[in-house]
Amino acid sequence: MKKSADNSNNKANPKPAQTLLAWYDREKRHLPWRDTRNPYHIWISEVMLQQTQVSTVIPYYQRFIKSFPTVENLAKAPLDDVLKLWENLGYYARARNLHQAAQVIVEDYGGQLPDNEDELLALPGIGPYLAGALVSIAFNQPAPAVDANVKRVLARLFNVNSPIAKTQTQKEIHCLARGLVPKKRPGDFNQALMDLGARICVPRNPQCDQCPWSELCQARLHGLEKILPITGKAKPRPHRQAVGAVIRDDRGRYLLVRRKNQGLLGGLWKWPGGLLETGESPGSGLKRWLKEELNLDIRPGKRLASVDHEFSHFRMTLTLHAAAILKGDARALGCAEFSWVAADRFGDFALAKADRTASHMILEKVLA
Ligand code: ADE
Repeated sequence: MKKSADNSNNKANPKPAQTLLAWYDREKRHLPWRDTRNPYHIWISEVMLQQTQVSTVIPYYQRFIKSFPTVENLAKAPLDDVLKLWENLGYYARARNLHQAAQVIVEDYGGQLPDNEDELLALPGIGPYLAGALVSIAFNQPAPAVDANVKRVLARLFNVNSPIAKTQTQKEIHCLARGLVPKKRPGDFNQALMDLGARICVPRNPQCDQCPWSELCQARLHGLEKILPITGKAKPRPHRQAVGAVIRDDRGRYLLVRRKNQGLLGGLWKWPGGLLETGESPGSGLKRWLKEELNLDIRPGKRLASVDHEFSHFRMTLTLHAAAILKGDARALGCAEFSWVAADRFGDFALAKADRTASHMILEKVLA
């Protein structure tokens, strides 16, 4: 008889959920957000864990909860403080959405996170994954939480061999996940799936000999565990050039600007400047950016530092140039605000990684 991963309940083939939960009880990772039942704390952890590894998240989670122990604390905090705690965690829209959603939760829900998927989905930054993770982990409801690891595990368990990126495949996997989640301990089940994907059912060399589902796994049965899921080739990421201006006043302070709250790094501080257009020279790009952002006419000077950085969808080289103001007083036109910052105050400003690295290089040169 063909082995199956369905939910049939007999002794030879106990429910997949029970098998996995028994494994989880033996092997689960002890993580700080697994010691709490506080829905707000669970929400913070799940937002941080999207697109970021567990080991990176732990200290960020602990600092965040210490600074903002309640949803009210978060709602009241200035966005700048939230972004500062998020510095280097990336995907900064997550922090901005978290902050906005906290304000909605305080205003519309009396500070209690809604306990159903529909209301959660209406909050800023909450999509199907987060809604499912929250209702299952924080509120004990049987909803699936399908992240990239879980997709891989289920594609193997059920031998799903259509490309994983296709909408139809994603829908299929979502249905399969929904069918697996048990009524009892749905949150533990979802976290067990995540642990299985992170530690056993890994992308390249799955450790099938340690997998509680190895007997049920349809990909393994067909010798396809290293072939599935079908991912297709990753597209090469474009490489873009960016420029930044290092402008110092006569008191030795540097001009920094804060991005408007939208977009890739919205709300974070940076050196004035940005991406070059195709064919644009660094000098012209700097002049254009400084005019657009701060209404300043500048003279670009020598190159001071260069930093490579990778975003999820493009690579970037940021080059900083000295620059002198020719004309005009700074006005925040294309930015949220600007500030003249002394070298010893850079640490107070939330900078994205490339700008932070560049500032270390600049300040080391100046202080050397
Ligand atoms: N990834 C996303 N959510 C997680 C969780 N609760 N535990 C471990 N890894 C995760």
